[in-house]
Amino acid sequence: MNNHPTIFSGIKATGKMHVGNYLGAIKNWVTLQNSGQYQTIYSVVDLHSLTIGIPKKELSENIMDMAMDLLAAGVDPEKSIFFIQSHVKEHAELTWILNCILPVAELEKMTQYKDKAKQHKDNINMGLFDYPALMAADILVYRATAVPVGEDQEQHVELARKAARKFNNRWGQYFEEPATIRTKTPRLMALNDPSKKMSKDLGPKSYIAMNDSPEEIKDKISKAVTDTGGGKHGNGGKNLLDLFEMFVDDEQITTKFREDYKNGELQYAKFKPMLANVIISALKPIQERRRELEKNPDYVLEVLRAGASRARAIAAETMKEVKEKVGLI
Ligand code: TYM
Repeated sequence: MNNHPTIFSGIKATGKMHVGNYLGAIKNWVTLQNSGQYQTIYSVVDLHSLTIGIPKKELSENIMDMAMDLLAAGVDPEKSIFFIQSHVKEHAELTWILNCILPVAELEKMTQYKDKAKQHKDNINMGLFDYPALMAADILVYRATAVPVGEDQEQHVELARKAARKFNNRWGQYFEEPATIRTKTPRLMALNDPSKKMSKDLGPKSYIAMNDSPEEIKDKISKAVTDTGGGKHGNGGKNLLDLFEMFVDDEQITTKFREDYKNGELQYAKFKPMLANVIISALKPIQERRRELEKNPDYVLEVLRAGASRARAIAAETMKEVKEKVGLI
């Protein structure tokens, strides 16, 4: 491990990576990794995915799929520690210790838990409830001090800070409280309903997946809801401008579109095809890298194995110290 501050982040393996994930988090993971300022640790958090009862085969496929998407998006195993959460058992071990200091009332406040419990009424399992404790353990087991995530994860990172504080109060100063790092678009909205967050849960029409074809991208953008819903659907136009700005590195043209939008003069018939083209060309190299990786799953598995072994070394050291602090002999 180098001496730079540690960054940790993760993504679930519950479906396809979409541009909301990419622009809200993953693109920033890559920027932080390439800055050389941090020890970056990134994970496919498969144990979290288990909380919503995915069929066995789908889960295994999703894990590999997400790992390939992350490598294709620029996660570089030479620069980051990149691994699968369940390969490092210390995450689950630290979760138990945090479980014993986190009040149930704190977990009951979590909006994601409340939403998911409504969505999966027939499967409100302990894992779903305890999800944020596992997430706190993910971060703290590497003593990470910063966590690049989208806005929807803020409450969970706040819980990780509480867990760190409670641990320190009870057993003596050990964990630093982790901060979040956000991008300019911490909350991209659904294309078909901009009053809601872009999400796998809302189905493929709500998002652009990283592997959508040019035709799919053109179609989804042309059908994207703008501001025509009398405010009912939220700010769809602004959402499309945000997408444009994040994919195109040209301040002049973005400023012009933003002004047109402010003055109610943005011509969607012209803007939308441009936006679609910008997304298509930004995703093209990522899609090409992904196709190369698909030819070589053994390479991906090897990368993940090596990453887990590096992650384990750090996590095991933390657990040794944590056990001493707690009084486990
Ligand atoms: P997950 O898998 O839902 O999403 C991965 C990342 O994408 C961000 N994101 C978005 N950002 C902007 N706009 C959107 N519409 C949007 N949708 C998703 C998420 O905020 C996230 O950063 N609980 C986490 C996974 C996790 C984790 C961790 C993250 C487990 N342990 C430890 C950080 C640290 C989750 O479900 O993300």
